[in-house]
This record gives sequence, structure tokens and C-alpha cells, in this order.
Amino acid sequence: MYRIRLAVLCLVVVFVFGMALNVAGQNKSDTEEAVEDMVVPMGVIVLEPDPSVEPKRSPVGFHHAKHFKYDCRTCHHKWEGNTKITNCTTSNCHDLLKAPKKPTKYLAYTEDGIKYYKYAYHQTCIGCHKETKAKQKKMEILYKASEKKKIIVPTSCKECHPKE
Ligand code: HEC
Ligand code: HEC
Ligand code: HEC
Repeated sequence: MYRIRLAVLCLVVVFVFGMALNVAGQNKSDTEEAVEDMVVPMGVIVLEPDPSVEPKRSPVGFHHAKHFKYDCRTCHHKWEGNTKITNCTTSNCHDLLKAPKKPTKYLAYTEDGIKYYKYAYHQTCIGCHKETKAKQKKMEILYKASEKKKIIVPTSCKECHPKE
């Protein structure tokens, strides 16, 4: 039984590797060109919903480069480094414009739930900011750091969606 499984696994590996080689061979110049052309926004990116959505909150000013101490793939989690980075709401990623009927299961978003762009943004952005704040608090207790040194990591609605 074990040997059969191993043999099947080997076949799968050979197959997948073969396909990867094939793709790389065919499109190499295309992808290389695409990566060379990639423009990385360094300033504030304005995040807002698709024009077909009536927004309830103001757009979010997201300072891209202030987040570059993190691995790009913290956010661009589908990026392999050899293709252009596309936006978050491309088809099948986080392109749902409304929450599905059952977005959560066991307190976590389902595969469909996280396709709703708002949940994806809130989970990633607020999730890290809350974690960062908790760490800051711990550090303050440990080192009695002054208020002044504190960096701003917004967690409240108004901090990200300012009142217009
Ligand atoms: C904290 C999250 C985060 C990190 C870290 C991050 N980005 Fe981004 N990036 C974003 C968001 C959000 C957008 C806007 C996406 C959209 O409009 O759908 C974006 C947009 C981009 C775009 C433009 C994509 C387009 O639609 O044309 C590029 C290119 C990009 N990022 C490259 C990078 C690179 C390179 C790094 C690492 C040095 C990086 N990003 C790190 C969140 C992040
Ligand atoms: C992995 C952690 C992480 C993620 C993910 C993240 N942030 Fe941040 N964010 C930070 C940290 C740390 C700071 C403080 C940066 C600084 O001031 O040096 C910050 C600062 C900010 C600020 C205030 C910066 C300023 O002074 O202009 C805004 C607004 C912000 N983030 C929005 C977002 C949005 C929107 C997203 C999701 C697209 C996001 N962040 C995702 C860690 C994160
Ligand atoms: C760390 C930043 C951040 C915080 C904090 C945050 N949001 Fe968001 N929110 C976003 C981003 C980014 C989007 C996606 C871009 C957009 O649609 O504006 C979004 C989208 C939304 C949307 C869907 C778009 C719209 O305007 O109808 C709503 C509603 C919303 N947020 C409400 C809230 C509420 C209510 C809170 C407080 C409980 C909150 N947000 C806190 C970043 C944040």
C-alpha cells in the first residue's frame, strides 16, 4: 500500500514539475517583461469600493511604503515574485461586492466569506493593527516607553474612514 502511494506521489510530482517547466518555457519572456514593468506605488493609495457599491464610509488613505518593513507577501499573499502584482479585487480573489449568506464558520471567515472585499481588508488591516497595538502595550509596560514614541496604528472606524 505504502509503495503504491509513493509511486502515485512520484507521478504527481513529475507531472506537476513538467507542467511548471512547460509554462516557464513558453511564457518566460512575457513574465520577465511584466515584472520589469511593475510599478510600485510609494505614496498613499486610496482604497475605495467598486463604483457599483454605494459607499457607507469614506475612502481609506493607505500609505503603502509605510508598510514596507513587512514582507510584500503579508498582503500580496498570492504573489510568487515572478509575475506582476495585481489588485486585491481581481476575479476570484476578493471580488465579491456583497457578503455571502453564511460568511463565517467557527468564528472564522469561510472561503466565500473572505472573497467579500470588505472582510478581506478588515481582517488583514485591522488584524495586524490590533496585534501591533497589543505588542506596543506590552513594550510600554516593560520599558515605560513615552507616549511620544508611539506610532499610530489605526484600529477605530474613524481613523481609517475619516468623517468627511
Ligand atoms: C500591508 C499590506 C501591504 C504590503 C506589506 C505591501 N502592499 Fe502592495 N498593495 C497593498 C494594497 C492594499 C494595494 C492596493 C491594491 C488594490 O488596489 O486592490 C497594493 C498595491 C500594490 C501594487 C499595485 C498593484 C496594481 O493594482 O497595480 C504593487 C505593484 C504593489 N502593491 C507592490 C508591493 C510590493 C513590491 C511590496 C513589498 C515591498 C508591497 N506591495 C507590500 C498592500 C500592501
Ligand atoms: C502586518 C501588519 C500590518 C498590516 C497588514 C497593515 N498595517 Fe497599517 N500599519 C501597520 C503599522 C506597524 C503601522 C505604523 C507605521 C508607521 O507609522 O511607521 C501602520 C500604519 C497605518 C496607518 C497610519 C499611517 C499613517 O501615518 O499614515 C494607516 C492609515 C494604515 N496603517 C492603514 C492600513 C490599511 C488600510 C491596511 C490594509 C490594506 C493596513 N494598514 C495593513 C501595520 C500593518
Ligand atoms: C485599518 C483600517 C480600517 C479600519 C480600522 C476600519 N476599516 Fe472599514 N475598510 C477598510 C478598507 C481598506 C476597506 C476597503 C476599501 C473601502 O471600501 O473603503 C474598508 C471597507 C469598509 C466598508 C465597505 C465600503 C463602504 O464604505 O461601504 C464599510 C461599510 C466599512 N469599511 C466600515 C467600517 C466600520 C464600521 C469600521 C469600524 C468598526 C471600520 N470600517 C474600520 C479599512 C478599515
